[in-house]
Amino acid sequence: MTGVPTAADDVRDGAGPFRASVLTLYPEMFPGPLGVSLAGRALEAGRWALEPVQIRDFATDRHRHVDDTPAGGGPGMVMRADVLAAAIDAAAPEGDRRPRILMTPRGRPLTQARVRALAAGPGAVIVCGRFEGVDDRLVRRRGLEEVSIGDYVLSGGEIAALVLLDAVVRLLPGVMGNDASGETESFETGLLEHPQYTRPPVFEGEPIPPVLLSGDHGRIARWRREEAERVTRERRPDLLPPGR
Ligand code: ADE
Repeated sequence: MTGVPTAADDVRDGAGPFRASVLTLYPEMFPGPLGVSLAGRALEAGRWALEPVQIRDFATDRHRHVDDTPAGGGPGMVMRADVLAAAIDAAAPEGDRRPRILMTPRGRPLTQARVRALAAGPGAVIVCGRFEGVDDRLVRRRGLEEVSIGDYVLSGGEIAALVLLDAVVRLLPGVMGNDASGETESFETGLLEHPQYTRPPVFEGEPIPPVLLSGDHGRIARWRREEAERVTRERRPDLLPPGR
């Protein structure tokens, strides 16, 4: 990392940039889309670090097995506790203060509040589940926080990990620049964001709402607030405080 330490570095105890270790059977999926655009430039600039770890490197048998049949029977395979434990212990030795996260559809839903907290911390150790899941003893004994990115099932935790990291990295100091858009965007205000318009003034016969061209900043702010509430009421009534 370059430059003078900032206030944001303090909350990481001066331990350097946000560091993500990602434990996966498919390390070639990383950085993937996080290697381009905002996140990619920040990665190159050393504003965050990414360390993919191949779980299979910690298998101990000749065939490098990482999974086995579920105890009690049933379909599919389960990731072995011993192999994953060895991978976690190598990636995050004792004293590593980074939260340990398991990407799984069984987890608590990811929220912007959790993303913000992660971005303020030293980094994350992210385990990407595959198959029918992970031996539950591993989850408890290594203190994994189970996180889901939504109520649908992906073929593995890798894309979910990319989603989580994308949401975190854009909040890191210096990544979005001095962009004030972070303060009004969806979820940061508790509401979905109001609709946006730009040129041309008329598109296929439909004009931009005249209030936005009025130059009256008070009216514009009020219109945006009302639109944010309308959109939130229509699409995500669960986000509104009771009685709104
Ligand atoms: N792995 C598979 N599906 C997932 C989801 N919805 N969230 C997080 N990890 C997953």
